[in-house]
Amino acid sequence: MQAWLESIHARARSRLGSGRVASYIPALAEQDPERLGFAVCTNDGTLYAAGDAETPFSIQSIAKVLLLTLALRVHGEALWQRVGLNPSGMPFNSLAQLEAERGKPRNPFINAGAIAVTDRLVSAFATPDKHLQDVARRLAGNARILIDDEVLDSEWQHRSRNAAMAYLMKAFGNLDNDVDEVLRTYFSCCALAMSCTDLAVAMNFLAADGEARAMGERFVSPGLTRRINAIMATCGMYDAAGDFAYRVGLPAKSGVGGGIVAVVPGRMTVCAWSPALDDNGNSVAAQYALELFAEELDPAGI
Ligand code: DON
Repeated sequence: MQAWLESIHARARSRLGSGRVASYIPALAEQDPERLGFAVCTNDGTLYAAGDAETPFSIQSIAKVLLLTLALRVHGEALWQRVGLNPSGMPFNSLAQLEAERGKPRNPFINAGAIAVTDRLVSAFATPDKHLQDVARRLAGNARILIDDEVLDSEWQHRSRNAAMAYLMKAFGNLDNDVDEVLRTYFSCCALAMSCTDLAVAMNFLAADGEARAMGERFVSPGLTRRINAIMATCGMYDAAGDFAYRVGLPAKSGVGGGIVAVVPGRMTVCAWSPALDDNGNSVAAQYALELFAEELDPAGI
C-alpha cells in the first residue's frame, strides 16, 4: 500500500502547474501551488501518507461535512425544511437559485446551504465553531488542530457574496440568527487548518458505519452515515459532481484550500491536497490523485 501511494503521489505531481490557487480569499492566495499531499486511513486504523500529508491547510468547504453532521445530530430530519437535498448544477457561491427558490438553498454543500446549516448550529450551541473544532480534534485524535485567524479575517473582509446570500435567506425567513454571527461562525469553521492525515482519520467514520475509531465511540448511526455519503456523492464536488462521479465514483467533498476527502464505504477514507484549483473550485492534482487511486484500488488488491 505505501509504495502504491508513493507512486500515485509521483504521478499526480505531473498535474502541478495546472489550475490556479484561490485568490478571492486573499489569505489563501499565498499558498504554494507545488504542494501535494496524500493520505489513506483504513477502517482498522492504519494510516498511510505520501508527500505533504502532514502539512495543515485550510479545510474550507470540507468543513461543510462536519457542519452538516452536527446539525443532523441535533435537528434530525427537520433540517430539510431549511435546506434541500439536490445537486445545484451551479457554482458553489451562486445566488441565482436562492432568489428563485425563496431562500431555501439547494443542498448543504453549496455556500448558501452551509450558511443555513450554520444558522441551525448557532441556535443549538453557545460557541458552535469551538464545538466543531473540538469535534474535529477528537475525530482526528489531534488536539493541536487550530482555527487559522488570518484566513478567518480574510474571509470576513471579503464576505460580500456570502453576506448577500445570508441576507437573502434572512429576508425569506430562513435564517433565525444575526447574519454577522452566522457568517463569522461559518468562516471560523471553514478556517480550520488540518492536514491530509488529520482529515483521513477524522472522516473515517463515514467509511466505518459512523464508528469514530480515534474518538473511541460511535459518532453517528450507520443510516446517517449512508445519507451523508449520498449527499457527498451527489453534491460534494459542485457543478463537477457528475464528472467526478464518472471518473472517481466515490463520495467526496472538496474545499477551495485544495483539499478533497473521499470515502470508500466499508474500507477506508482518503484525503488528497494540492492548492491549485480548476474553474469549479476543485483541486486539479488532488482530483487526479483520487482518480488514479480509485482506478487502481481493486486491481491492486488492497
Ligand atoms: O465561503 C466560501 O467561499 C469558502 N469559505 C468556502 C468555499 C469552498 O471551499 C468551496 N469549495 N470548493
